[in-house]
Amino acid sequence: MSKIIMIGMSLRKDSLNKKYIQNAHRILSAEGRQLNPELLSFNDFPLPVYDGDIEARGLPEGAKLLGEKILSASAVIISTPEYNGSMPGPFKNAFDWVSRIKPMPWAGKHVLLLGASPGAMGAVRGLWASRVPFEAAGGFVYPEMLGLQKAHEAFDENDSLKDAANEERLKKILMKFIDHIGPT
Ligand SMILES: Cc1cc2nc3c(=O)[nH]c(=O)nc-3n(C[C@H](O)[C@H](O)[C@H](O)COP(=O)(O)O)c2cc1C
Repeated sequence: MSKIIMIGMSLRKDSLNKKYIQNAHRILSAEGRQLNPELLSFNDFPLPVYDGDIEARGLPEGAKLLGEKILSASAVIISTPEYNGSMPGPFKNAFDWVSRIKPMPWAGKHVLLLGASPGAMGAVRGLWASRVPFEAAGGFVYPEMLGLQKAHEAFDENDSLKDAANEERLKKILMKFIDHIGPT
């Protein structure tokens, strides 16, 4: 079966995207197909801002570790915030560091883009922007994406999705993505 890694691309402790990817992980783990998706924390991969002089001295440990995780997987499910209608800087920075590893870790990966935002657009502009580097790096980004709008009101005290419709939407796209990537 495909190895799937899942990560929320915000460093904030109370991140809405951490909560959303945790819910996605719960749904996939309970799915019963022995998918064993691995949930990662972005905080476990500390990275300086990309600088070619740092790279010339050797890749930062965080880039090596994240790159190894990506290389070991066949699919990556991401939940990302939207910053100023685009891909957040910390996410792009991590993407760029990982892209310096040979062979290119993002190449050939199946990618599902999720997002969460307190706004009414649910981070979808950030998801569209995030497609570009993945595709430039040779990843296969699933055509459908899902943004959780009004995400600051969407979770209960256990960080679970409160609304059955939000749970159902998330489950539906996850199952479609899993069916699409199939066993590898
Ligand atoms: C620099 C910056 C830019 C932002 N721009 C947007 C935006 O364009 N659209 C939006 O819906 N939210 C925007 N936000 C609000 C984020 O959606 C909000 O802070 C969200 O909680 C971040 O995700 P997180 O909770 O996973 O950290 C922005 C936040 C920051 C810090």
